[in-house]
Amino acid sequence: MCGIIGYIGDRKACDVIVSGLKRLEYRGYDSVGVVTENGGELYIRKGAGKIGELEKKLGLSELPGNRGIGHTRWATHGIPDDTNAHPHTDCTGEIALVHNGIIENYLELREELLEKGHVFRSDTDTEVIAHLIEEELKTAGDFEEALRNALNRLKGSFALGIIYSRDVEHLYFVRHESPLVLGIGNGEMFAASDVPAFLPYTNRAVFIDDGEYVILSKEGYTVKDFRTGAVREKEVHTINWSLEMAEKQGYPHFMLKEIHEEPKAVKEAIYGNIEFMGRIAEEIAEYDKIFIVAMGTSYHAGIVGKYLFQRLARKVPIVEEASEFRYEAEGVIDKNTLVIAITQSGETADTLAAIRLAKRRGAKTLSIVNVVGSMATRISDLVIYTHAGPEIGVAATKTYTTQLTVLTMLAIALARHLKTVDEDYLNTLEEDLHKLPELIEEVLGYEDELKALAEELEDKRDFFYIGRGISVATALEGALKLKEISYIHAEGLSAGELKHGPLALIEDGVPVVAVAPSGKTFDKIVSNIEEAKARKGFIISLGDNDELRKISDVFLRMPEVDELLSPVVYVVPLQLLAYHLAVLRGNDPDKPRNLAKSVTVE
Ligand code: AGP
Repeated sequence: MCGIIGYIGDRKACDVIVSGLKRLEYRGYDSVGVVTENGGELYIRKGAGKIGELEKKLGLSELPGNRGIGHTRWATHGIPDDTNAHPHTDCTGEIALVHNGIIENYLELREELLEKGHVFRSDTDTEVIAHLIEEELKTAGDFEEALRNALNRLKGSFALGIIYSRDVEHLYFVRHESPLVLGIGNGEMFAASDVPAFLPYTNRAVFIDDGEYVILSKEGYTVKDFRTGAVREKEVHTINWSLEMAEKQGYPHFMLKEIHEEPKAVKEAIYGNIEFMGRIAEEIAEYDKIFIVAMGTSYHAGIVGKYLFQRLARKVPIVEEASEFRYEAEGVIDKNTLVIAITQSGETADTLAAIRLAKRRGAKTLSIVNVVGSMATRISDLVIYTHAGPEIGVAATKTYTTQLTVLTMLAIALARHLKTVDEDYLNTLEEDLHKLPELIEEVLGYEDELKALAEELEDKRDFFYIGRGISVATALEGALKLKEISYIHAEGLSAGELKHGPLALIEDGVPVVAVAPSGKTFDKIVSNIEEAKARKGFIISLGDNDELRKISDVFLRMPEVDELLSPVVYVVPLQLLAYHLAVLRGNDPDKPRNLAKSVTVE
């Protein structure tokens, strides 16, 4: 779970690499390293810390040469220190490489290489790869053959960038279960874990698939299968994300920018899918055994999906965390099963494993994904893109509301196809769906109020978020946002569950956030709020019924919206509240401790 970047061309390689690493920092930020080549010599600088702190200290921008690779790390093997920072080298110092992923058989390989006299300097799994290539070079005809032989001995996930000082014309890159994309310039080439890393220079991209390696030169690229050595033809995609979209645009943090982008993102999600949602619905309409699999925020979107499918299409999907599904569901998946995977990145290891399991068992797979060309999109039978644009902040915001938008569209299309619900109601719901961007805009207007509320709540230690029906997901997501960026303990739960245990924790001043749109359980949640209030909880309620004002310490008057669409609007103030609490507490909401944007390891 790291970011890698490489450059070869006429520019000063370190400049391209350092700026790319800044845009890849969301993938990991506990250490940084760069290697360039000049006159057949490798120049390596690396250390623990963030790129912003290390750029000057290590003199990363002073490295000579027009080709090089860089790395921003999220530690898996070996603590985040200077020695374990990438790049790693072989014994001769002629091979340097960066790695995103995990080498599962590294201990066995390390033993073998130690016996052959190799000297290891780090505790990482990555270093074995450099020594393995060095070892293979002793018998192989050339570097490429040595690389291929080494790759075929690795087990696990790896995206690699490799530089060999004796081969001054090329850089080498590899993909196996960790993302890699090439940027195609004129007389210069780029490779990175993600497109924004090279977006200032080119918007033409080639997505590399598992089991492929790339020989990159100034003039072009050759992609080959590392098992067979066969050349693979690749399609060049034009990316329509602007650089501006991938940068902060004056906001103090990406997260805040991304929250403010939600009206636009939801609009894009609607217009990007409007034409073909009916066709997708037709393709999945026959399935009655449905699983929705995802992790984290995407899992919460799955819970909303379940309520939508039930209420509109009269189908009852089982929503499971992909990490559970992948180990438990094998025996119940067959060709009559539909597995819907929801993943922003399209690279979450558990979600990919769940999709692969579903495919092995002959199930139909549909993925709801944001990142174009990501692995989930390539292994699924059907794909719906959320069109949210790049999300850099680790906390998912606009990618969540766009996931909800496309799930709503899918459920409406299914209901229309199956004629499960009155057509007039579906038409009204669809009209209201188009109003969501406006409604989000309206609630974004509460930002000052939410900031003031954050100031009032800054020192609280525990929060409870409650909801009923489809709003349970909003409660869970509100709590997750708070936990991950403000580091305050928070629990999200169904309001009905409160008095079965958690009520014991409500005492004087404990914040209870009630997500209470009008709907069939409104009266019930009012009772639950009363229960918390009677224990002197500090009640913050979100709703469109003024009754709530009387029983709340803080009432956020929400716009009127159909209960089924309410999760898209109601989560936004909760994202803002979490954001402002995080900032007040001195945290960087874009880079929460211990977390990374895409979890590409189990
Ligand atoms: C939420 O803010 C997190 N970023 C996290 O829970 C995330 O939703 C989860 O890791 C799943 O990621 P994915 O959507 O890219 O698969």
